[in-house]
Amino acid sequence: MRHHPAIDCFCMRLPFLAVAAVCILSAQSLRSLADERGIHFGAAVAPSHFSETAYASVLAREFNQVEPENAMKFGPIHPAPDTYNFAPADAIVAFAQAHGMAVRGHTLVWHNQRPAWLTGGTFTPDQLFSILQDHIKKVVGHYAGKVYAWDVVNEAFESDGTLRKTMWSHAPGIGLEGAGYIEQALKWAHDTDPKALLFYNDFSAETVNQKSDAIFKMAEDFKSRGVPLDGIGMQMHISSKPQPLPGIEANMKRITDLGLQVQITELDVKLPVDASGEATPAWLEAQAKVYRDIVALCLKNPRCTAIQTWGFTDKYSWIPGSSKGNGAALEFDAAYQPKPAYTAILSALEGRP
Ligand code: XIL
Repeated sequence: MRHHPAIDCFCMRLPFLAVAAVCILSAQSLRSLADERGIHFGAAVAPSHFSETAYASVLAREFNQVEPENAMKFGPIHPAPDTYNFAPADAIVAFAQAHGMAVRGHTLVWHNQRPAWLTGGTFTPDQLFSILQDHIKKVVGHYAGKVYAWDVVNEAFESDGTLRKTMWSHAPGIGLEGAGYIEQALKWAHDTDPKALLFYNDFSAETVNQKSDAIFKMAEDFKSRGVPLDGIGMQMHISSKPQPLPGIEANMKRITDLGLQVQITELDVKLPVDASGEATPAWLEAQAKVYRDIVALCLKNPRCTAIQTWGFTDKYSWIPGSSKGNGAALEFDAAYQPKPAYTAILSALEGRP
């Protein structure tokens, strides 16, 4: 149940100012406010950074959920036909367990970050069917009871709403028509860990458009036939342009009206940056407003159950590498200092306008 968060003032009555300050600070982490609102606030992470004290301490202090940014993808976790490399993702699960955080799994079926043995191989649909079945059963089985939700299939639609042609769907495909491979992947995951929540995840399908229409139709069909789909992940790699909030709200509502959850899975808000990766104060303020609006939108819908940023420090964001001239997309700067975006998220979680 969600309720209006009230910062616990018990500590403030203690006579020692220092103790009071610590209490206020800890009461105001994203994590504690998210706990009070009954939602997950997460970050995508890489285990190679856990040995960096600032990385580990900010992560544990501010977030109640983590998701591997890369470690559970097909290529990294299944590098050879008979080899699974679980160690990096296991380190993430261990960090989460040590700090009482939930773990989201990402992702079982995708057209990117596949291992060379898959991209370079020649397979019949029957062989691919077995490869995918084995992969899903091994990975979901390994993390059963540890990963509470999976992005089972990622980015299966084109922006015009047609199904993307990937090795799993058509070329050569696992031998099932249309969205049949998505349905099959959900069933394998569900059979392996019936308690895990299963998501379909995509980008640029946040508002009502051709892609989100196609995803909605698929979700409606799956729900009507009892296919084990629990929610839709909205990646939300966005910019500081004003967002189509009524459209996003309407899209969330039609999904949650089906009885599904929505989770914001990969939120970041890219900004134009200078050669040293810095954004101007005006851009940082515009970014803060976007973060505030998106968090507030999720909180308005009781079935929007998680908000996750794609990383949390600008030091390791994927944006400068993937979107030239842009960066500064996250809520902490490269020195782990909270940005205006952080304060905006806090106030949205507190329910302040
Ligand atoms: C990105 C990672 O952040 C990068 O480190 C990696 O090189 C490429 O993938 N949509 C997704 C994520 O679902 O898995 C992608 O992550 C970003 C876009």
